[in-house]
Amino acid sequence: MNNDATSQEKVERPDAFFKDPLEVAIDPALSTEQKKEVLGTLEQDARQVSVASDEGMTGGEPVELADVLDAKTSLELLPTTLKPKPEKETNMAGELHEDRSILGPELLDKHRAISTLMEELEAIDWYDQRIQACSDHELRAILTHNRDEETEHASMLLEWLRRHDASFDLQLKKYLFTEGPIREAGAASDPGAPAG
Ligand SMILES: [Fe+2]
Repeated sequence: MNNDATSQEKVERPDAFFKDPLEVAIDPALSTEQKKEVLGTLEQDARQVSVASDEGMTGGEPVELADVLDAKTSLELLPTTLKPKPEKETNMAGELHEDRSILGPELLDKHRAISTLMEELEAIDWYDQRIQACSDHELRAILTHNRDEETEHASMLLEWLRRHDASFDLQLKKYLFTEGPIREAGAASDPGAPAG
């Protein structure tokens, strides 16, 4: 997904931003109304391609109607709690809780990384559920591939955060890739520290 484009650009030119209609349904940058509008556009395109190919005309990248309808169904099935907040409460890189002018460029970059990591993790969760529910073998394989790409994206972001946040660096070195009870991993790396 391209998280840098404004939601309006995505609504106006969905073919430039979405390879798979399912990406529309889980895009945190779009409101539910915008998702419906984009999927409506993609459905119209798919039906026109279908008519053109029935008449022996070719050209353009075909949009699979079944994929669009599947994405529309997914959108309807998303629990209310998973739907993004109204657009006015967020901006490109998620919600800010303090005035942008006092945060400074380094903190804003960290905010962008954390917001994007949250979006990647949310996408993984949605893909996990969709993979579990999916009845078509090939669609499940595609969704699994997409989910694993989001895992790679999330891992790269976590490493960026570790390199830019001393506390994350300390804690991740303490707990990642350990064995046994996780709470005891911290004590094992620092035997003099009280368990807390
Ligand atoms: Fe991603």
